[in-house]
Amino acid sequence: MRPPEEFLTDRLRLRPVECSDAPAIFQTYAGEAAPTRFMPVVRHRDEADSQAFAVRCEDCWTSGSAFPWAIIEKVSGRFAGVIELRLSPPKADFGYILGESFWGRGLATEAASTVVAWAIAQPDIFRVWATCHPDNAASAAVLRKAGLNYEATLANWEARPQLGEAAGPSDCYALTRSPR
Ligand SMILES: CC(C)(COP(=O)(O)OP(=O)(O)OC[C@H]1O[C@@H](n2cnc3c(N)ncnc32)[C@H](O)[C@@H]1OP(=O)(O)O)[C@@H](O)C(=O)NCCC(=O)NCCS
Repeated sequence: MRPPEEFLTDRLRLRPVECSDAPAIFQTYAGEAAPTRFMPVVRHRDEADSQAFAVRCEDCWTSGSAFPWAIIEKVSGRFAGVIELRLSPPKADFGYILGESFWGRGLATEAASTVVAWAIAQPDIFRVWATCHPDNAASAAVLRKAGLNYEATLANWEARPQLGEAAGPSDCYALTRSPR
């Protein structure tokens, strides 16, 4: 089971992250303080870090271990961020990040809703889930608007280097459907 390489929404094009995206990844979000504040990975120090991430994304598409799309604003052609889906039937999980200049316009919800709708429609997928830091209100709003419901707060779920958390909590959200 593999998702489409491209999704087109009203304002966005999702397509696989490519190695040539590394400068945009670094400048848009991965090297920036605000977008990476709650992320469970170390902020990129330079474009080489983003290049390594982009190579990893290409490898993920090849192996099918994850499906990371670049979020492209259609009207401008600008790289806005990344959304990634991981399929592990009977469940799938996802994560997303946008550059700060793209926040507050419903773009993350548009991207997440599209990926969630595809995932939950797959015959082998009965649960689509994601986590966010309990203080990450914007991300929680995105998950709710994409149709997920709060389930639980998971203690010691992941390290968040930018917050100095070695094992910080995460709120788990999920959309489920019953097997027929
Ligand atoms: C989380 C993130 C993807 C949201 O992107 P976005 O495009 O601004 O999201 P949307 O506009 O689709 O929706 C954001 C919602 O959060 C709300 N929101 C934003 N900041 C908020 C805050 N501080 N408190 C409460 N709600 C907030 C917005 O009002 C909006 O809800 P509404 O449409 O009901 O008004 C973006 O902020 C981001 O990339 N953050 C850094 C990375 C990150 O945290 N990723 C998620 C990791 S789990």
